[in-house]
Amino acid sequence: MFIALALAAAPLSGPCADAAPVARIEAEPGDRGLDVEGLVLQPDGETPAAGVVVYAYQTGADGDYDAGENGAPARRAWMKTDADGRFELRTIMPGGYPGSREPAHVHIFFWGEDTPAQWTPALNFSEDERVTDEVRARSDALGDFGFVMRGANMDGLRVVYPKFKLKPQGDRFETSIRHGLDACEAS
Ligand SMILES: [Fe+2]
Repeated sequence: MFIALALAAAPLSGPCADAAPVARIEAEPGDRGLDVEGLVLQPDGETPAAGVVVYAYQTGADGDYDAGENGAPARRAWMKTDADGRFELRTIMPGGYPGSREPAHVHIFFWGEDTPAQWTPALNFSEDERVTDEVRARSDALGDFGFVMRGANMDGLRVVYPKFKLKPQGDRFETSIRHGLDACEAS
């Protein structure tokens, strides 16, 4: 809660200060492209949430975060939703953790001046065999706000269209995953 209050009270700094609705995570040779075209709505599920910071991070195709010395994953980006609540992340398809049954995923957090810091269910991908029937059912139960992405393939590029509904209350962030928030706190 302290994090949310601190962020709400102070102007956004660092990479959040000039975050744009579109961001890119660099690909390496052999990576498969992924385009996340997101829509963020207020807790009523209808009103577009404009000006909300979107922080995304993910593994590479090998399932590794390639974290640097500060613990931050190598593949991460900040965006800010446009007037219609939209953002776009041009990135690569993540790989699942090596030796794990956990589906490949993209983590997404939100926060802003009127939005307490919060996470969403990580995005999964329908063709991933590690997505179990139980996980699919949990996603389907959320209707338009499901987290197992179906989407389309266009010339080898995977395009997905997740919809998010902000929660009125924020989440508690563990020290180890605060790196996206840390980078944007005014100093
Ligand atoms: Fe993860």
